[in-house]
Amino acid sequence: KKPLITIIGSINMDLITNTTKFPLQGETVIGGFFKMLPGGKGANQAISASRLGGQVQFIGCVGDDQFGTELKKVLHDEGIHLRVKPVTGESSGVATIILSEGDNRIIVTPGANDCVDVNYLETLKEEILKSDLVLVQFEIPLQSIKYILELCHDNEIPLIVNPAPAKKLELEEWMRAAVITPNETEATELFGELKDFRKHPIAQKLVVTQGKEGAAYLENEMFNCIPTFSVDAIDTTGAGDTFNGALAVAMTEGQSLKEAIKFANGAAALSVQKLGAQSGMPTRKELEIFLKKEGV
Ligand code: RIB
Ligand code: NA
Repeated sequence: KKPLITIIGSINMDLITNTTKFPLQGETVIGGFFKMLPGGKGANQAISASRLGGQVQFIGCVGDDQFGTELKKVLHDEGIHLRVKPVTGESSGVATIILSEGDNRIIVTPGANDCVDVNYLETLKEEILKSDLVLVQFEIPLQSIKYILELCHDNEIPLIVNPAPAKKLELEEWMRAAVITPNETEATELFGELKDFRKHPIAQKLVVTQGKEGAAYLENEMFNCIPTFSVDAIDTTGAGDTFNGALAVAMTEGQSLKEAIKFANGAAALSVQKLGAQSGMPTRKELEIFLKKEGV
């Protein structure tokens, strides 16, 4: 039987506006194209893991609006097992994304994602406990993250915590995670300079994604960056999510952390070559062909 990966998190509709110039305060600029595509860190990670062959259960909430119906269908069509509640009177999560030359700035309006609260998770406790691995990000209430950390730790279920966007937790709470995957900005905000805390107990759990550099982890008391593959980025939105979903799959397959990072780097590198968070996420076959071609 395939290991069960449970992903708990956000679902958003991404409203993408392309521009060559970011507007300053009070300024109006004329943009390029507009596109509406499914996103949300939780949903993105679920799709990444599922395309790479993981058996995925997704827990989240949508609003009782048209976006909610569409977003649920997208996940369902990917073969993901859904525990997604439509919340009456709430809007679905929305992300307003300004895309400029492959770079992005994002405003997330949580809407129904705030309803992924402890009460809701309590009702799904038995389902969560069936997991071989759990993956969570920070676009749901912080209390829920704390609850998941405790539940997974008490039941010895490995948990990957992707602290995006960054929110602070107590040291003992971080210690309940198996792996913590901030990007560089989040890592500095949460834990300070990488080189300063090599001897810190958390350091061993960290996998710090570094964009086009790759991802770093602790090896012999040094943060070692596993370089990623050089590609032409069209849209980096969701690259971190692709990485996290892939990391989850690799970990449940028993790959070493180093191997898992290479696998996840490859998935993320492929994902940035298409517009939108989810469109470029590779299937298992596509990733294997790519890695082989790259000599991995
Ligand atoms: O990580 C990328 C995602 O962040 C986007 O899909 C957007 O919805 C925001 O949640
Ligand atoms: Na992309």
